[in-house]
Amino acid sequence: MPVKILMVCLGNICRSPLAEGILASKLPNNFIVDSAGTGSWHVGNSPDKRSIAVATKNGVNIQNQKGRQFKTSDFDEFDYIYVMDSSNYSDVIDLAKTPEHKNKVQLILNELFPDENVDVPDPYYGVANGFDNVYQMLNEATDIIAKKLIEKHS
Ligand code: 4NP
Repeated sequence: MPVKILMVCLGNICRSPLAEGILASKLPNNFIVDSAGTGSWHVGNSPDKRSIAVATKNGVNIQNQKGRQFKTSDFDEFDYIYVMDSSNYSDVIDLAKTPEHKNKVQLILNELFPDENVDVPDPYYGVANGFDNVYQMLNEATDIIAKKLIEKHS
């Protein structure tokens, strides 16, 4: 059985597609990585051009991803659910029906800065280097996640 990891943000066009692509690039193929948004505005859309550009610049291909909305069945489908910020955390936890579901949900930067509850800032309306900053944060967090997952599941 593959181990399944879900990355979640608000729109599923900026941060979580990057998190999905970067983590997938660090894991062998007995792991499945997917992403979703808590909102529905961008269902079926490709990632934001700026996310595609920063991924491509770093050798990661996210162009073929398509946006989808988080759904409650994702709690059963996925083993680990990483959210990008505290607002995503509340939105996802509000849909959880059991303690097991809740336990699957973690703020992704708590892997890098344990218990500090640091957000991955939403770069959508933000400054020019916002996407590079997000890439760097996610790259560091997914280094730790990939190492832990490979140790635990191989
Ligand atoms: P993301 O960024 O959550 O990192 O994908 C956003 C993209 C679009 C919107 C919000 C956040 N939006 O409201 O359309």
